[in-house]
Amino acid sequence: MTHYNFDEIIERRGTDCFKWDALPAMYGHDDLTPMWVADMDFRSPDFVMEALRRRCEHEVLGYTMPSKAYWQATTAWLDKHYYIQTTKETLHFIPGIVAGIAYTLLCLTQPGDRVLVTTPVYPPFLNLPRESGRTLVCSPLKIENGRFAIDFDDFARKAEGCKLFILSNPHNPAGTVWGEAVLRRIADICENKGLLVVSDEIHADLTLSPHRHVSYSTVSEAAARHSLTFMAPSKTFNIAGLGSSVCHIANPELRKRFFGWLDALGVAGGNIFAFTAAEAAFAHGEEWLQQMLEYLKTNAETLATFLKEQMPRVKVVLPEASYLAWLDFSDYGLSHKELSDRLINRAKVALNDGTTFGGDAYACCFRMNLGCPRSVLLDALQRIEAALR
Ligand SMILES: Cc1ncc(COP(=O)(O)O)c(C=O)c1O
Repeated sequence: MTHYNFDEIIERRGTDCFKWDALPAMYGHDDLTPMWVADMDFRSPDFVMEALRRRCEHEVLGYTMPSKAYWQATTAWLDKHYYIQTTKETLHFIPGIVAGIAYTLLCLTQPGDRVLVTTPVYPPFLNLPRESGRTLVCSPLKIENGRFAIDFDDFARKAEGCKLFILSNPHNPAGTVWGEAVLRRIADICENKGLLVVSDEIHADLTLSPHRHVSYSTVSEAAARHSLTFMAPSKTFNIAGLGSSVCHIANPELRKRFFGWLDALGVAGGNIFAFTAAEAAFAHGEEWLQQMLEYLKTNAETLATFLKEQMPRVKVVLPEASYLAWLDFSDYGLSHKELSDRLINRAKVALNDGTTFGGDAYACCFRMNLGCPRSVLLDALQRIEAALR
């Protein structure tokens, strides 16, 4: 058995990585601990790097296509981890999930159509409908027993007249695992009111035990009929910079329409490194993933213990999947500006600003990325505690 070391501190500055090298542009400083954009400071797996190196030994990088081995590794992984029956025919490569949602809006909705999301949510879910001239409809989540919950009365009311619901499954922020009953209820409402559903399952592989991911299209016939599911190895194996995702559609008519559009866009050819990395990750990734998930789980527990003991005024929604915790500092009675100032200028930590996940209702909230060595996490938490003391 290989023992992977997630405690290792790897210098990422100077690699044009967004998380570290965009700090001056995004936060006005370059000396912050970046706990914002959702990638991890861990080394990408050795078997992925080896596959990429091997491919580079052949020095012609012309147009490419997904290989049989890529489809085999992908379908086997999805069957095992998502409990979802896929075949090469039900899947289509997409270069990224944000792009996939944009393609969906353009292909399956019209300007002015209403698009439903549940807030707080991953900012592109808000920006894509707005920027494409659709009408954004937000149903705020509730917090029940320290986790996000859908307010179904509000959701059902808002779903009326909408064309599409964009579901984050698990939910970003906080990786809330929705579970079968909740997903079935969403499916019933969306079917009754005639909505299509995009289920973005990019964080599904990062589901932390004892939680279990349920893929949306598997919960009912209606869900399978009216949904598009987006999945990727990018968060799972920390290869987001390669742009490698897939779309699964069970409904043959919807598939024909959407995959036809993707082919017209010319995205099926993907890119050489995306296919090579995804195939290696899916074929050999089990052991690495299990060790990494244990590490993330302990990071989440470390955060929970620290907050309980040192900062009990912070309300937290802990990750059930992923490494994205949601922190609510409203108990400190500080304004958004004061909180941001203390976190950035005193604690020297870059968190995601809660307002970008759904507006002023989240002015005292911040998303924290725990995908880093534990020593970095603890150091940042101590600085946050001191800055708010
Ligand atoms: C819910 C969710 N969807 C999509 C993405 C981005 O996916 P991609 O890089 O494939 O566009 C992220 C990245 O943080 C995410 O959290």
